[in-house]
Amino acid sequence: MIILGICDSVESHACLVRDGKLIAAISEERLSRLKADAGYPEKSIKKVLEIAKIKSSEIDIVAVAGYDNGLFQSIYKPGALFSVQDWIEQNEKYRKPKLYSNKKLEEIDDFLIWKKKYPKIKNNIYKELISRTTKKNVKDHFRIFNEVRKKVICNQLNISEKKIKMFRHETCHQYYGLFSQQQKTKKSIILTLEGAGDDSSATISLANKNNIKEIYRTNDAMIGRVYRYVTLLLGMKPGQHEFKVMGLAPYGQAYHGKKSLEHFGKFNKIVGTKIINKKIFKDVYYSTRDALHGERFDGIAWGLQTYTENFLKKWVLNCINKHKLKDIILSGGVAQNIKAIKFLQDDKRIKSVWAGPISGDGSLSIGAAWLAAKQFDKKNKIEGLNNIYLGTTISDNNLKKTIKTKCKNFKIVYKVKNTQIAKWLSLGLIIARCKGRMEFGQRALGNRSILADPRIASSVERINSKIKYRDFWMPFTPSMTYEGAKKILINPKNIYSPFMTVAFNLREKYVNKLPGVIHPADKSTRPQMLKKEDNPNYYNLLKEFEKITGLPVLLNTSFNLHGDAIVENANQAINTFLKSDLDILILNDYTIIRRLKQD
Ligand SMILES: [Fe+2]
Repeated sequence: MIILGICDSVESHACLVRDGKLIAAISEERLSRLKADAGYPEKSIKKVLEIAKIKSSEIDIVAVAGYDNGLFQSIYKPGALFSVQDWIEQNEKYRKPKLYSNKKLEEIDDFLIWKKKYPKIKNNIYKELISRTTKKNVKDHFRIFNEVRKKVICNQLNISEKKIKMFRHETCHQYYGLFSQQQKTKKSIILTLEGAGDDSSATISLANKNNIKEIYRTNDAMIGRVYRYVTLLLGMKPGQHEFKVMGLAPYGQAYHGKKSLEHFGKFNKIVGTKIINKKIFKDVYYSTRDALHGERFDGIAWGLQTYTENFLKKWVLNCINKHKLKDIILSGGVAQNIKAIKFLQDDKRIKSVWAGPISGDGSLSIGAAWLAAKQFDKKNKIEGLNNIYLGTTISDNNLKKTIKTKCKNFKIVYKVKNTQIAKWLSLGLIIARCKGRMEFGQRALGNRSILADPRIASSVERINSKIKYRDFWMPFTPSMTYEGAKKILINPKNIYSPFMTVAFNLREKYVNKLPGVIHPADKSTRPQMLKKEDNPNYYNLLKEFEKITGLPVLLNTSFNLHGDAIVENANQAINTFLKSDLDILILNDYTIIRRLKQD
């Protein structure tokens, strides 16, 4: 059975599941080049079909994630197009007057704001939605939205409407969490926690093997929304830069964060396993802005992260006590908080915690496709997430000619061995590696990566000066062999973390050896643990680096210019190399050399 998974709201993307196996997945931003692109994922659908050599007529089911969320975001893409100032303006001019006059804020309000801001949007595939939704038919908006979505899918893929199945947002998160789990647990508690889903911001479910039973849902959980608005208050983009607030938190201290911590605790209380809205404030943004006026930025980040960790721990422990299960799966936007996951992992009362890679809305289509496979494909077992090398490869067609034309000022070498590449890295050179299938999700795991020697603290400055201009407080991450991770990390629960989703502390003797890939403030690291079978060539490079340095570890950051989506094809890779000052670019079997010595 062939299932096409689609997410057409925020972080839009598509995937293909064939006979229970996830065979392709790609985010629209990689193809459209608009970071955090939203809406109907036209390009990604075409691309996953092309990758798998499947015609649209062969699709058995189109699994669509979500049916009561994302209205108008698909058209106006605020997550991708809004600046910080636009978000502030939206709050000031449009939301505040409604909120403070006790009027209900509807999705149509956002629509009217965006319509005013982007009056010229005409060619959107969902444009019918604009003409059909008015203030008078508020109650019908989502029905209209879903009619338009179905019509577009039928027309685009030339398939019957019967093949389209829509799944609830939260349920997609739950199944993604369950089937992406690497160390399978027979029975577990699945918790979703996020800003907003179709009908709730938090759910509790019990999983028995592959079956999930939801037992609680609430729209009262405020933590995702609080994180979102604090991101904005700290001058960063909500819905995108929450991880930067998390990265800032370890620099703060209780001394500067006490007041913030107290404020965040006023939104919710946990009673047993229930999350209750204390309803002290009319809204999150203004109450937080007023309460924390004059508070230091790092203290706010510390207060928020500390609150998030304490909140999660209390909720998780109460769930464990009530349901007598100690294995936890977290999904939804808040599950992307790797520091909080670490905090839970470190607690002896919790046996295991799993959060899949891209556990926010960026993976909903996979959850939808697995859910459809479970319901309709009775013949095949769902294989789950074997790896995330699910995207395109760099085509060899005309590659030599393109490289020779565009890179004529540089030395070009064919088939350089990993022994040599490892040597260059150990000499401090910064190398982009573009080879094999592109990774799905926000993390580059070796195939669209910039690599450097993690032993050298100055690698960080060199990468920043050459290409990244990364925020000064954000650490870089390492790739390490799975065997190496066992020696280097403190990992009493023997967690296998192949997707950079868990932070760890290092064993003492390694802390000073890897300054390029640890958080300067809390000394933690967020590694990709790599098994040979998942990426043999990249694994071999790590082993070659180990032969020279004794460390099977490389600094690994995504290959893109600051603010761009990660490179997808050869032209983008070459252009990024040309615009930056990287020392070397590896493109399939070609190596393009700008210099072989550090400046
Ligand atoms: Fe979500």
